[in-house]
Amino acid sequence: MDEWIDYYDSTHTIYASKLHRDLHFQVIARDIIGYIASPDAVVLDYACGEALSAAKVADACAKLYLAEPAPGVRGRLIARFAPNTKIRVRSLDELRTMSEAVDLVVMNSVAQYMTPDELDSAFAVIGRLLKPNGRLVLGDILRPEVGMFRDVLALLKFARAHGFLKDALYGLASTALSDYRQLRTRVGLQRYGENEMIEKLAAAGFAASRAQQNIGHNPWRMTFVAKHAFQRP
Ligand SMILES: C[S@@+](CC[C@H](N)C(=O)[O-])C[C@H]1O[C@@H](n2cnc3c(N)ncnc32)[C@H](O)[C@@H]1O
Repeated sequence: MDEWIDYYDSTHTIYASKLHRDLHFQVIARDIIGYIASPDAVVLDYACGEALSAAKVADACAKLYLAEPAPGVRGRLIARFAPNTKIRVRSLDELRTMSEAVDLVVMNSVAQYMTPDELDSAFAVIGRLLKPNGRLVLGDILRPEVGMFRDVLALLKFARAHGFLKDALYGLASTALSDYRQLRTRVGLQRYGENEMIEKLAAAGFAASRAQQNIGHNPWRMTFVAKHAFQRP
């Protein structure tokens, strides 16, 4: 679903304001850090977006790979993090030939934009990169039975708690008229039930379970933590 990559490469209005965008990436970084088991860890953020708080994640590990398919976003990541010697920026294609093994892969709020086959290909790439005891954290998975109303509610609760409710309301109104809404209606977002995702991960060679809390601000979406199902040589 390349149209979503183009969308994220455009000057979109998915964040209601600068404060919303900054808070979003702070919360994601905090949650990713919660999954880093050791300061020696090599971490990969798969389709990381703007990753504005990636320096905080890098502080908590030995090396952070930021992988992003959208070329414009990737260009900004390269410029933003050039001074940070712990951060490397990669395209998703480059991950296919990357030689360094990683301890933790986080793929947050990405699977909904992929076809099921694209997600299987990504799982294969990640499976090859993950160390024998490495973990894949798959966040922000939409369930079939939870509709857009919960997304709106989750955003409004997040906004009220952080003082940008007015911006969020304006943002929702403009989103309703935006490319996002059109794409969401036309291309759609991929959804998975809890067991369905656990089975999909099992078919890709992972043993997974659902985490108690989702990454980010939306409690109606799901996060899964996966490991290699079989010990690899
Ligand atoms: C909502 S953003 C999530 C960014 C970041 N992981 C976060 O949690 O804020 C969605 C990301 O998925 C990427 N994306 C969209 N469609 C994709 C596809 N078909 N395959 C891989 N990545 C895709 C976009 O480039 C964007 O970086």
